[in-house]
Amino acid sequence: MNTAGTFSESWLAQRERADHDARAMAPLHAASDWLATRGSHVPWQLLDLGSGSGANVRYLAPRLPGPQHWYLVDHDASLLGHAVARCQPLCDNAGAPIHVTTQQRDLHALESSWFTGIDLVTASALCDLVSADWVEALADACAAQRAAALITLSVDGEIRFQANDVAVNDAEDAWLFALLAAHQRRDKGLGPALGTTAPQALAEAFTARGFHLVDAPSPWHLTPAQCPLALSLIDGWADAAREQAPHERQRIERWWRHRREALERGHLDLYVGHRDLFAAPGPAHASR
Ligand SMILES: C[S@@+](CC[C@H](N)C(=O)[O-])C[C@H]1O[C@@H](n2cnc3c(N)ncnc32)[C@H](O)[C@@H]1O
Repeated sequence: MNTAGTFSESWLAQRERADHDARAMAPLHAASDWLATRGSHVPWQLLDLGSGSGANVRYLAPRLPGPQHWYLVDHDASLLGHAVARCQPLCDNAGAPIHVTTQQRDLHALESSWFTGIDLVTASALCDLVSADWVEALADACAAQRAAALITLSVDGEIRFQANDVAVNDAEDAWLFALLAAHQRRDKGLGPALGTTAPQALAEAFTARGFHLVDAPSPWHLTPAQCPLALSLIDGWADAAREQAPHERQRIERWWRHRREALERGHLDLYVGHRDLFAAPGPAHASR
């Protein structure tokens, strides 16, 4: 994981299982129903923004109806290469092979032409990296095309260490998580990032354009069996905190050691909040 909008294949692979386990069912089912009732112009055209190595397509393709043509957009050619290799063999929920096209592009300026003919726009673990203006542009593009959107795994800022399902966060956790939240607001190449405010910004932008929303939590709940992912996370959070407060290295180091040891001993679970959102265009006259 890196703060400049670049992500390693190994990090994306490490989080894929937890991401898939976390997905909220209600937005997924709403997206599936919406596609199924959309009409007869199949295959569905699906645009996955910030697709990385294709984890979102691997989750969605077998769960969505009908013939599907996916367009995967990312600025990282290496990740797109992994995505093609691992998504080409996939089938839709009726067992028909999907089509996959990759487009190496910078998402900084969304172009309306990317959305032409698209039925459903998807993005996972992307929208906390983008700016409020970017979300407005996304909602505008979806409204203009009357495309729906399924935006998943946007962080909501809820982080808890838990023992026997009871939160055990202390003042040092609160301090560290505040540094992390500030770091998540830094520009990651797509404007000043929304960070933990992404779910609210998405809901407001689509609501303002007359979209109908289905929104639900999709948290990671990492048990001791998922300790390697939890350790990678807190290593990344400590790095972010050091960047955010370089004069507090010793205090950050104490927090990091304390929480790392407890996770390694199997004494803690880690809850990390996200939200999933499905947004469907309303009647044509309701769009802005
Ligand atoms: C957290 S990863 C999520 C990847 C994938 N959606 C998943 O769920 O595994 C964010 C993705 O956004 C891409 N990304 C970040 N900034 C970008 C930009 N300016 N243009 C295009 N892609 C970008 C990264 O390369 C990365 O693949």
